[in-house]
Amino acid sequence: MSNNVSIQPYNDESHKSGIIELWNIAFNNPTDHNAPELSIAKKQAVNDGLLFVAVRKDQVIGSIMAGYDGHRGWLYSVAVLPDQRKLGVGAALVAHAEKALTNKGCKKINLQIVAGNAQVVGFYEAIGYTQEPRISMGKLIDA
Ligand SMILES: CC(C)(COP(=O)(O)OP(=O)(O)OC[C@H]1O[C@@H](n2cnc3c(N)ncnc32)[C@H](O)[C@@H]1OP(=O)(O)O)[C@@H](O)C(=O)NCCC(=O)NCCS
Repeated sequence: MSNNVSIQPYNDESHKSGIIELWNIAFNNPTDHNAPELSIAKKQAVNDGLLFVAVRKDQVIGSIMAGYDGHRGWLYSVAVLPDQRKLGVGAALVAHAEKALTNKGCKKINLQIVAGNAQVVGFYEAIGYTQEPRISMGKLIDA
């Protein structure tokens, strides 16, 4: 994208400290199973090439994690540094992940927004997502 921002596949050597700093700023109070180091290591172990960073002058300024299970694509960890927002970086990250998911055969993409973060609904609506009538459930698996 423009503004000297490039979207790149994540790699530990160049991006690890930057993405951890970004997530610590953008997502406060991560739970144990969402600890940045653990999330990165588990995503790297899957090796699906679906973790991306936005980089400007060697600084990680944005991130997106996608997943595809053969049925649905999912988006996670969409984040941009506060002083880099409203410049199109978030939209470019989502578009990049959408393309990567589409290339894998994905036909539908879902995402969840935690209660209390409803202000980002406008962001997703601006880039074509709609609210769907679903009840979201989950189960934390004990170690
Ligand atoms: C959500 C987030 C990634 C958006 O990143 P961004 O780089 O500012 O987004 P963009 O500049 O690409 O915005 C794309 C469009 O969404 C709009 N938009 C961005 N943030 C918005 C908001 N909070 N409310 C309403 N619209 C918003 C922009 O105005 C733009 O619309 P336009 O194309 O009509 O001008 C960023 O605000 C963020 O990191 N938030 C904290 C982390 C977070 O909550 N992530 C989402 C988890 S589900």
